[in-house]
Amino acid sequence: MNYPTPRSTIAEMVRYQPNLSVNKSQRVIRLSANEGAFGPSPKAKAVLTNIGENMHWYPEEEPLALAEALGKKYNLDPSKMVFGCGSDELIMSICQAFIGPDDEAIHSEYGFVMYPMSIKVAGGRPISAPDVNYKVDVDAILERITDRTRVVFLANPNNPTGSYLSRTEVNKLHRGLPNNILLVIDSAYAEFVVRNDYSDGSELVDNFDNVIMLRTFSKLYAMAGLRLGWGYGPAHVTDALHVVKQPFGANRAAVEAAIAAIDDQEFIDKSVEHNLIWQPWTAAEFEKLGLKCLPSVTNFLMVKFPQELGSSAEDASKYLSDRGILTRGMSGYGAPEYLRLSIGTEEEMRTVVNTVAEFLGRVRTD
Ligand SMILES: Cc1ncc(COP(=O)(O)O)c(C=O)c1O
Repeated sequence: MNYPTPRSTIAEMVRYQPNLSVNKSQRVIRLSANEGAFGPSPKAKAVLTNIGENMHWYPEEEPLALAEALGKKYNLDPSKMVFGCGSDELIMSICQAFIGPDDEAIHSEYGFVMYPMSIKVAGGRPISAPDVNYKVDVDAILERITDRTRVVFLANPNNPTGSYLSRTEVNKLHRGLPNNILLVIDSAYAEFVVRNDYSDGSELVDNFDNVIMLRTFSKLYAMAGLRLGWGYGPAHVTDALHVVKQPFGANRAAVEAAIAAIDDQEFIDKSVEHNLIWQPWTAAEFEKLGLKCLPSVTNFLMVKFPQELGSSAEDASKYLSDRGILTRGMSGYGAPEYLRLSIGTEEEMRTVVNTVAEFLGRVRTD
């Protein structure tokens, strides 16, 4: 070959494929990436107006004011925090720091697609543990542990299925892991979960040496475009991440906006309440149309287009996309009969339900 070629593992991989393209002249309803329904907090937007003044300066390597603000808000120890350019960067850094050639890392069957991708990029072998009814199966994960297992990834709640494991189930998973295996609890959607038996994983971090929790400002805080994620873990884990990750991954604008956003309780409450109304509403409307939605505690739904309806999820996605509504096909996750869509505004949800009804050839009158 007469040109540079990447490592064979990389050459065989396909890049992450979001469905975010805005190539229509009509208005676009973007329900394909689990972004916030209302746009960002007005308080977060307001602080950005002055950010240009200092953009010639590198940001702080570790944004201390943000760590302290998060510590106060969630009752956590700021010294255990690590920040990255989205939690995607931290996922990749975990793989690069803890997984070597031929090491194994376990993720659930329908776990977030960046896990197997990042494991492979690091040279490791992703091991998929089958779900039971689209829910993570703790026993299936534990059965797959070998001498080569280094990391277990758990998205809780999980994207794309929307299901979650209770505190008891996560504790059982942790109890079954040898101390030298790192448990990554990715709680990207924690802020949306209103369940007594749910825990974001921070308790385990505070009590054990082999757990890191990941969080993001991309979902409830609606700041995906600024790219800011954080991890909460013991020093021997975060120290390794500091070596691997880029030093200035948490940019100045994102940090300033994040400090303002976590202080905007009105926006946070409004976003959670909106989701508690419109997520079940959307699921119920789809069920009326004969579609099946997986139970979800998040701001998105995985919707099944049963074969009996004679119309596939792929056709539905195309029909919606032609009308300016972006959803996410699930073929990449091995579930081609499903679409995933996030919860947008009331108007957007009414439009998407009506458009799906139209697609299925029914006319809704309400
Ligand atoms: C479970 C999960 N983890 C991590 C991420 C990545 O988030 P970020 O925007 O912080 O990189 C996502 C984004 O969709 C996600 O669903």
